[in-house]
Order: sequence, then C-alpha cells, then structure tokens
Amino acid sequence: MAYLQPDKPGKVYLPAIRQAKERGEKLVCLTAYDYPTARIIDEAGVDMILVGDSIGNVIYGYGNTIPVTLEEILSACIAVKRGTERAMVIADMPYGTYHINEDETVKNALRLMKYGGAEAIKIEGGRNRVHIVRRLVEEEIPVVAHIGLTPQSVYKLGGYRVQGKTADAAKRLIEDALMLEEAGAFAIVLELVPREIAEIITKRLRISTIGIGAGSHCDIQVLVLHDLIGMTFGRQPRFVRQYANVRQIIHDAVKNWIEDVKNGNYPNENESYGLPEETKRELNIE
Ligand code: KIV
Repeated sequence: MAYLQPDKPGKVYLPAIRQAKERGEKLVCLTAYDYPTARIIDEAGVDMILVGDSIGNVIYGYGNTIPVTLEEILSACIAVKRGTERAMVIADMPYGTYHINEDETVKNALRLMKYGGAEAIKIEGGRNRVHIVRRLVEEEIPVVAHIGLTPQSVYKLGGYRVQGKTADAAKRLIEDALMLEEAGAFAIVLELVPREIAEIITKRLRISTIGIGAGSHCDIQVLVLHDLIGMTFGRQPRFVRQYANVRQIIHDAVKNWIEDVKNGNYPNENESYGLPEETKRELNIE
C-alpha cells in the first residue's frame, strides 16, 4: 500500500500526546478530507489531523453529519494518510457505525485503521459509550472520545448549543470525562463547553482534552480547517477565528481566468505547445 512509508522523525503517536500533557505543551489539530490539504497542514506543523465527519457539512453539503457513511470517511482517510508524514491521523466514526453492537463497532474501526491508515478513531458520546471505548481499547484501537456538543445528536438536541451550562449538566460532563478516561480513551474532544468546565476537566484528567469552542485551557485546540481559511458558508460560531479568505481568493482567481479566456488573453504562446520547426516545414505550416 502506497501509504506505508517509514515514519518521519517526530511522527506523532500516543506517547507524544501524553508527554505534551505532562510538559504542559499545547498541541494543535485540524480537519482534512483530502491529500493536498492534509499535506499542506502537515507541512505547516499540525500535530493531529482529524478526518472528521464534518466532511458531511464542509465537503458534501449535507447540512449535518448524520448522512456521512463509513465509505466516505474511509476514502477521505486514505487520501489524508497519503498526504501526512508527521501528524497523527484520526478517523471519525460516522453516525450508525458504532451504535449497533461492540463487534460491529470493532469491525468498522478496524476497517478505518487497516484500509484507511487511521492511527486512532473518534466516537461521540459520554457514559453511554464507555463499554464501547473499553472494548475498542482492548482490541488495540486508540480512541478519542467526544463530549459536550455532539453533532451526531443534532436531532435529539434540536440544534448546536453550548452544553454543560447548568450545575447538573456540568457535573455530568465532568463525570463523563472521568469515565471515558477510565475506560481507556487517550484524549477527549470538548465541544461547545463553558471554558470553566473545560478547565476543570483538563485539570482533573491525566489524558488530553481537545477543545473546540471550549476556551484556552484545553491541552489541544481543534478547528475545522475550512472555517479557519474561510471556505465555509453561513454564519460562523464565535470560537472560529478566520485566518484567510480562501473563498474570496478562489472567486477572484476564477473570475480573472474567465475574463482572460473571454478576452483572448488565455492561453498565450508560452501556455501552449508548438510544432517542431521540421514538422512545420513538412506540413507547410507558417
Ligand atoms: O467532525 C469534526 O470535524 C469534529 C471536530 C469538530 C471536533 O468532530
């Protein structure tokens, strides 16, 4: 398989994540769904790349993550893995792929690792997923858990809102995090959680927290790459800081190209191929 190359020095595996937590060193994670973006963000120095089920919103335009299939994540994962040398590649398990029973969950996770090249998988949920996390870890599958706002529960939650705002809900989140750590997860995504609760969880856990809309105390920050570079549509949540406007850059480039084609300015002689002089003579072409 093309992606099985020797590891680059500094390749990120679980021990590097653990050491960073012990040293208080911040790490970064971004999403990617294809070869070029994986390669660009790996070369820029991200520590983890998540082949997120946000592919449903960002790439397929589904509107939410519910329709995303294992095959879609698998195919994206294969491409991302080929573009990644140093970062840890984590594959999201889509809705419906870890809900039936433990054996089916293991089978699906193993496909992502064996054929997709994922080095860890991520599943959403708290105490209700503890038995699954335990079983996956028993089968040598590194697991990232995901609590707070879990987008696969969008129909149950009725929208994307900050979670853990009441004392009861906050206590439940903290308990969930401790249970998932005990079950063997090596990191936990905290999505849309008040920063005070994210700080408590980060301090209580020996494993790393990966924050998105959860404040600055998390050990690792994650964002959807397309939000960061301005390639998504609609209103952005307040935690998104846009570092580039790639959408505008693409729009302007395409507009300029259309204009050049229509004005006869593209392609010019240097952007096409001419016949050798000898052939021209033979064909009587000027
Ligand atoms: O799918 C995804 O991109 C995610 C991140 C937002 C954590 O789950």
